[in-house]
Amino acid sequence: MERKLVFWEGMTRWWSESFLLMGMVLLQIPLLFIWGLYRLRRNKEIRKVKIGRIPRGSSGWPFIGETLDFIASGYTSKPVNFMEKRKSLYGKVFRTHILGKPIIVSTDADVNKFVLQNHGSVFVPCYPKSVTELLGKSSILQMNGSLQRRVHALIGGFLRSPQLKSHITHDIEDSVKFSLSSLIAEKRLIFLQDEIKKITFEILVKVLMSIGRGEDLNYLKREYEEFIKGLICLPIKFPGTRLYKSLKAKERLLKMVRRIVEERKECLDRRGDKGLANDAIEVLLRDRGESKQRMPLDFISGNIIEMMIPGEDSVPMVITLAVKFLGDSPVALKRLVEENMELKRQKAQSNYEYTWTDYTSLPFTQNVINETLRMANIINAVWRKALRDVEIKGHLIPKGWCVLASFTSIHMDEENYENPYQFDPWRWEQSGISVNSNAFTPFGGGQRLCPGLEFSRLEISIFLHHLVTTYRWVAEEDNIIYFPTVKMRRKLPISIMPIEH
Ligand code: HEM
Repeated sequence: MERKLVFWEGMTRWWSESFLLMGMVLLQIPLLFIWGLYRLRRNKEIRKVKIGRIPRGSSGWPFIGETLDFIASGYTSKPVNFMEKRKSLYGKVFRTHILGKPIIVSTDADVNKFVLQNHGSVFVPCYPKSVTELLGKSSILQMNGSLQRRVHALIGGFLRSPQLKSHITHDIEDSVKFSLSSLIAEKRLIFLQDEIKKITFEILVKVLMSIGRGEDLNYLKREYEEFIKGLICLPIKFPGTRLYKSLKAKERLLKMVRRIVEERKECLDRRGDKGLANDAIEVLLRDRGESKQRMPLDFISGNIIEMMIPGEDSVPMVITLAVKFLGDSPVALKRLVEENMELKRQKAQSNYEYTWTDYTSLPFTQNVINETLRMANIINAVWRKALRDVEIKGHLIPKGWCVLASFTSIHMDEENYENPYQFDPWRWEQSGISVNSNAFTPFGGGQRLCPGLEFSRLEISIFLHHLVTTYRWVAEEDNIIYFPTVKMRRKLPISIMPIEH
């Protein structure tokens, strides 16, 4: 009897508790509904506020956005017009839709600095699809985090080292003197852009993998040219398409570079890590990192090829444009010749060889290089993708959006440079104009600042010195085109002859 009572008591409690629970759940449904509605409205409001803070601008036509206008500006003598037009309508930071993506464009030096400095945790590189296909995920240009920092530091340390600069100075001198004199012996009219590209390619390949003139260099050049053609193309990949051909060329390049990397590894294993590294392959092979592991050989081979991309076209184009700008500015050319002739005379009197610092310490020559870099805008912008919502100077860059930090707009802005379209190397002598300011970023900045900066400046200085102290030239009429990359329309034809002393 007592057991029955306990049972019924238990049942009654169970029922009443369940009933209470059900009541509470039922009561919660409308509450949940109301709360859901409230959240929905709130999110909508937050979105509205966010959209309000996304920079103003236009998305243009469906699908193509404002791409046609962007490309058309690239074909004019003032590609910055695309930015200028929108800047005047919406302000220095605006929204557009180009190359299939909504993009926030910054023409503001402080915003650009933020984008360049906040790399890795906030912004990652964002390239067109054809570029990402050709680069591969483990390319320094695409990777992020500690591996990017490690490779960047290794390559930057090597390219900046006085030891490299010291021995590469003689290689550059030899290449420049040999190539120019043999060219002039053959013909008087040369297409400067092409000829300089040959010289600088030879130097780049020497720095990266110690290959000298000969069959290997010719093969590498041929395949590299085939590979690079696909960097800006339709991202369609089947036999016959541009992208496919470029990927095949990359396979062949990889095979060749992998063979060289293996030979160098065997050599290092035999000889040990003694002495200075000869080239970038050796720098990467020697490093063991925190895990005491050598980087995989395929990774090293791929990165050596990919490092040719930022280095291969930029240096020869800066030299070509310096020659073009100097040809159009006889006063600047005269001053440059005087400064370099003075150095040549000193060297001849002292009977000493040139050191790398001789070249980089000529102030006017360095100003000519700064001014050329400012006006040439070889790398006109960097593209980044936001990993999370970011607010800069009151502008929202939503997660997943791309931001284009335009360097050209800053370099050609009257607020930063008086008469920005005038080639004026003397402006770099004025106070307030400095290579270290946010308004001068031809080599980018932050964690991805070009590791080849000092090496490039040295190469350009040596080239200009030997050109202006040994030859004079007359350039034919030619124009700069800016799309898809900076080039001379006619490859800058010049008649060149030795200076008679
Ligand atoms: C005048 C010549 C050059 C210019 C104007 C230039 C410009 C630049 C710029 C703007 C970047 C930054 C890209 C970004 O932030 O996404 C960069 C990165 C880079 N540059 Fe250069 N560059 C030049 C020459 C060179 C040379 C000669 C080399 C190699 C020997 C080189 C190797 C690199 C590499 C490896 C990176 C990627 C760094 C990283 O992402 O960590 N560059 N360059």
